[in-house]
This record gives sequence, structure tokens and C-alpha cells, in this order.
Amino acid sequence: MNRKCLLVLVLCGMVSFASFAQQSWEEVAPGVWKAIIGKPDDINLLSAAAVPPKIEAMQKLPSMGSFPLDTALIVGEITENQTQLRFPLQRKEQIFGFGLNFKTVHQRGRILRLHVDHYGSTDNGRTHAPVPFYVSSEGYGVFVNAARYIDVYAGTGSRRDSTDPPEARDRNTDNAWTARPYSDAVEMRIPAAGVEVYVFAGPTPMDAVRRYNLFTGGGPLPPRWGLGFTQRVHRLFSDEQVRQEVEEFEERGFPLDFVGLEPGWLSKSYPNTFVWDPGRFPDPVGFMSDLKEKGIRINLWVNPFVSPESPIYTDILPYTGSHTVWAGVVPDFTIPAAQQIFWGIFDREHLSKGVSGYKIDEVDGYDEWLWPDVAQFPSGISAEQIRQIYGLLVQKQSAELYRRKNERTFGLVRASNGGGTSFPYVIYNDYYDHRDFITALINSGFSGVLWTPEARASKSAEEWLRRMQTVVFSPMAMINAWASGTKPWSFPEVAEEVKKMSLLRMRMMPYWYSEFAKYHYEGTPPFRGMGLEEGFAVSTGPLTISDSEADLETNPYAQAVRKEIKDQYMAGSNLLIAPMFAGEASRQVVLPAGKWFDFYTGEYVGGGELITVTPGLDKIPVFVKDGAILPFTDAHLHTPARGEKYNLEIRHYGESPGEYLLYDDDGETFDYEKGDYAWRRLSVTRDKNGSWKGEVSKPEKGKPDNLGTVSWRFMTTK
Ligand code: GAL
Repeated sequence: MNRKCLLVLVLCGMVSFASFAQQSWEEVAPGVWKAIIGKPDDINLLSAAAVPPKIEAMQKLPSMGSFPLDTALIVGEITENQTQLRFPLQRKEQIFGFGLNFKTVHQRGRILRLHVDHYGSTDNGRTHAPVPFYVSSEGYGVFVNAARYIDVYAGTGSRRDSTDPPEARDRNTDNAWTARPYSDAVEMRIPAAGVEVYVFAGPTPMDAVRRYNLFTGGGPLPPRWGLGFTQRVHRLFSDEQVRQEVEEFEERGFPLDFVGLEPGWLSKSYPNTFVWDPGRFPDPVGFMSDLKEKGIRINLWVNPFVSPESPIYTDILPYTGSHTVWAGVVPDFTIPAAQQIFWGIFDREHLSKGVSGYKIDEVDGYDEWLWPDVAQFPSGISAEQIRQIYGLLVQKQSAELYRRKNERTFGLVRASNGGGTSFPYVIYNDYYDHRDFITALINSGFSGVLWTPEARASKSAEEWLRRMQTVVFSPMAMINAWASGTKPWSFPEVAEEVKKMSLLRMRMMPYWYSEFAKYHYEGTPPFRGMGLEEGFAVSTGPLTISDSEADLETNPYAQAVRKEIKDQYMAGSNLLIAPMFAGEASRQVVLPAGKWFDFYTGEYVGGGELITVTPGLDKIPVFVKDGAILPFTDAHLHTPARGEKYNLEIRHYGESPGEYLLYDDDGETFDYEKGDYAWRRLSVTRDKNGSWKGEVSKPEKGKPDNLGTVSWRFMTTK
């Protein structure tokens, strides 16, 4: 080391080596351990999200007495204001997560720089929610609580001092030589002089994910209407045009729960005034109350960049960053005064006039127009850290406005991060690849975020229907017609099929609502990859499989290990969805162990095997677990309002008896937090003659009971 360098390091006290091995891991919540190395930043992901863990719910998870990893193999070092971390990997271990990736599910072998950004078609860590959390097929999770751009080497580097190093092979003679030899560690580099690290116990990967989700507050419980159908209208629509569109939905019998207004509702946008355009929306109060009477709500597009013409401009100016975005100022949302001024106008101009939610755009990237990393913010927090937490802050602060009114919201956002699990927002973007949208849906389930594979426009009727089929089996059933003006019925050849699918979404409302409640109360992600499914073992084979071992007919898991399953997913506890993509007539589906049944007919399909399906254009392949119970309701055009009764048609599938917990509350307020909610047990058993018999548990006294008539359908009659 040269003298100058040594001097700087000594003066700044920047050389320090510490190792987690020497530290004690503190159990901070059931099955969650924390360790601190060095001096972490004051601001981090969990402090930005600031949501208390759901300790009671975590206590109910299977107990995992001991720390899931060998502490001696977790190492941290601090050099020159950088923290380096190392976690062990076993030979057959697979890892998932690191946020909203679009092309890959297996993260072992990947190099990423976790950086909030608009997804740019490569899984390199730059994405809308680059959550520094991964979950292992061995049944544990790791979270690095830093609002920094984190470099991740997920099993790529090989250390000289490794306990399980790769073998040196001769490329000249050895066919098994590989340019990417085996690595036994996940290594990370965090540009900070210390960091907090969390380890989550399983025992299963799903338990580790549940623990992470509950530790970060549990999933959001959307209002019932948030799970209905939503149409985002053309950006320059006026109130009259919106009314007409709403009427057309009604006349054609298409369901609709909320309408999204795009930038044209604003008097000026990019940057924004945050006030209504008096020409297009002369009477927002009247407009929204008329729609609400029809059971339809309004969601507003915004981005947070304040126009010099906004009424809040002068007040907020001192609390904004050094750089502008589209000549608008950038609020520093870590400062309470900025929060008050900014959200104050939202409260006055939007919420109190009847707005039900937001789509918060442009809080992710792109670099070309967002503030650069050299920007300064009045709080003194670095531009890098502000970038990593901006999405969290806008979600938290806007959700807080609704909570104060005891009103639930469910909106859209383009950036999130670790810690944001509980915020009532779904991520979307401008990248429009149907297949990759499904992979993102899978990855959202590993990272405590929600994602919508929105439909915008399509090149063909076939593509439109295929996209709409997946939209229906996703967290937000949305058409985003801001540019195209597309309607659900825009392709007449498939309009009837699209309508049937949209109504199916509405019929399944009791299921969707209950599955979201399980996300909220138990941390179980409602949409998730096969890697979290019991009976689908990804760690059953070596990572590198020779061709003879990769006979998928006899070993479907070979594909899971080697090739990744990134085009099929679980929707709630009982459904396996295998989307079709335009141009495809058939596809392969890996069915986990157990028996699986056809969603539409109830017929037995298979189990623990690879099947090929040829479903026809009108069907998205959906498979149901043995013994599953699916609660359906009538095909409403709007979700039931507060206190409105709904009928149940309860479907049972398969050959085994089953049970399902149906969730109920008022569907709109936070009164459930005071105990105003109910779980009703739906069960199917065989009577003494061997016929199926269904039962719904009695309502508890003083608890919500919105059930109307109940009927049963035994889909697999045997
Ligand atoms: C984009 C956004 C689109 C749409 C558009 C309106 O940034 O991703 O969904 O809202 O802005 O200008």
C-alpha cells in the first residue's frame, strides 16, 4: 500500500475487519435473527418502511429452534467504507428472490447490482423492486437491510480458502471442464461502513418467505373492490368520456370496479400541478359521487415531481432536491414538512373529493430523467439512498392518508423495495412482454411485492385473449389503455371469451379475498412460484445435470433444477396456473406430487409428472389440488359493497375430503384491526353412504357475516 493511501485509511479509521462468526446473532422475532457489522447507515429499508413486525402471527409458524446456517460460515468484513458479506451455499442448494426479476427464477450463478430502476430487459439487478432478500431451497432466507446499491455474486466466485472448492480440470482433455465452476457462497458488497443482516428460519422455503413477509408487516388487505376489474382510460379523456365508457361497460355486461385516470386529469403534467384540469374535469366531486353510486371508484395517475405552477411549489421548494425532473422539483419525502405540504394537497384536492387510490408513476427510473447520484437532498441523505427508498416512502405516506380516514386503498406503484410488503400497492411497468410478465409474477412471491401483468394492447385477438386470461389470475385485473384506448371488447372475435374471463374473476372474489387475507394474517404470498410449493422439490438433483439425467419424463424435477420453471405459478393455495402465449397451441406443465384436477371439468389430470396440454383458445390451463375447496359467488359487475350479502357456490375438487378458510369483514375499512373479521370453515367430508357432504361453520356472534345462500358443487364425482 502506498503511503498516501495508508495515511487516508488511518486518518479516517476506515480499516476494520469484523466477522459475523465472532458476533452473536440476536433472535429479534420468532425465527428471525439479526446481526450488525460495523456502523450501519442511519437510514435503511426497514427504517424507511417503518412497519412493525407481526410477532403474534410469526409465533404461529412452525417453530425452528435453532439458527438455520452454520454461523462460522457467515462472514462480514469492512474495508474502506465498504461492507463485504459472505453466506454459504451447499452443492444442491437453489436460491430465489433478489426482487422483481423478469427473466430468471433461479438466482444461483447470477451477478446483480440491486438498484431501483425501470426494468431494462436484462436481469442485472436494476428493477422496480430490487429487494435484497433471497430464500433458499434449503428452507431459510437472508435479508440485507441497506438502502444502497448492493452488488451480489450469487454463487459465482470461488475462494481459495473455500471448504468445498471446485476441482481444477484440464480443458484440453476433460469434457466436464466448465468456464463457470462450482461456487459455495453468496457474496455481497455494500457501499457502506456497516450493515444489518437478518436470517429467517423455515423449515420450508415457504415458511422463510412467510417469516420475511410477517416481519415486514404482512401483506396488504385490499378493499374488496381493489380485487375487482379496473380499466385505465385514455390519458386525455374528460369526465364525459369516462362516464360514457362506464356506461358502455354496464351495457355490454363487463365488470368494472375502478377507473384509472391518466395524466389528462391534471391541469398540467410531467411536472404536475396536482390540481384537476378545469376543462376536462370541471366538477370532480359530482363526477366521482355519481360514479360511486354506480359502484365505481376513481384512481388517479400521478408522479411526484412538482410543477412551478402547482399551488404547493413555493412552500415545498426548500424541501426539494438539487436536481429537477422534467423541470419539476423533487420532494425530499424523508422531511416531515415536505410530507405535510405534498400530501396536504392530495388530501384536499383528491381524497376529500372522493378519490379512492393512486397510481404512483416514475419513482423508479430511468436514469436519463431521474435525479443523478450526484444530486443532493436537504435531509443530507444521499441520492443513492433516496433512490432506493423513494418508492417505499410514497407508498407509505399515501397509504397513511387513507388509513387516517379509516378507508382502505389499493393502487399501483412503479418502485418498491425490501420492507414494503404491507403497502397496498401493486407494481407495474412499461416493459410489455407477456412471458416475462409471468416470470415477474413468480418472482414477486419471493420478495414480498405484488405485480400485475397488465394488458394494454395486442397485435392480435389471440394475444389479447391470452393476456386477459393471465390478468384475471393476478393481483390486479387491469387494462391499461392510457395510450391505446383499448377496451376489453376491442377484439370482437374474442370479446365473449374476454367477458367470460372477467366475470370468472368476479365469481372467484371470495377466493381472492380470502387468499389476500392469508397474505395479510399469515404472510403467504397469494401469487407465487412453484419453488414455494410443497411436493415440488427443486433441490432434489445436482445443479449440473447431464443429459442422461435430464430425462424429463422420468424426472420432472430435472427441469426444475436445470432449466427453471418460469411460466407456471400458484394462484392462492389451490390453483396452479399455466398461461398460454400467443402462437402456442400446446404447452408442458410440471404437476407437483399429489393428485391434480382440471379446474373446468373436475377431471383427474395427473400428479408428480410432466404433462402436455392443448387447451384451445378459450381456456387458460388451470389445475386444482386434490381435496381443494374453491368459494365462488355470483357474476357481479361490481364487488359487493360494505354490508352487502353475497351468495356462495362452493366447489370441491378431487378424491379427498377438504377444508377451506373463508375470510370475511366489511371489505372497506380498517375495523378488522379491532377484531371485526371472521374466518368461516368450509369443509367437505363423505357421509356414511360415501357421498360428499359440505358444511359451512356457523357465524360467530358479533362477527361480520355477509353470506347469502350457499350451494355446493362436487366437481369430481366419484
Ligand atoms: C407511464 C406509465 C404508463 C402511463 C403513462 C402515462 O410512465 O408507465 O402506465 O401511466 O406513463 O403518461
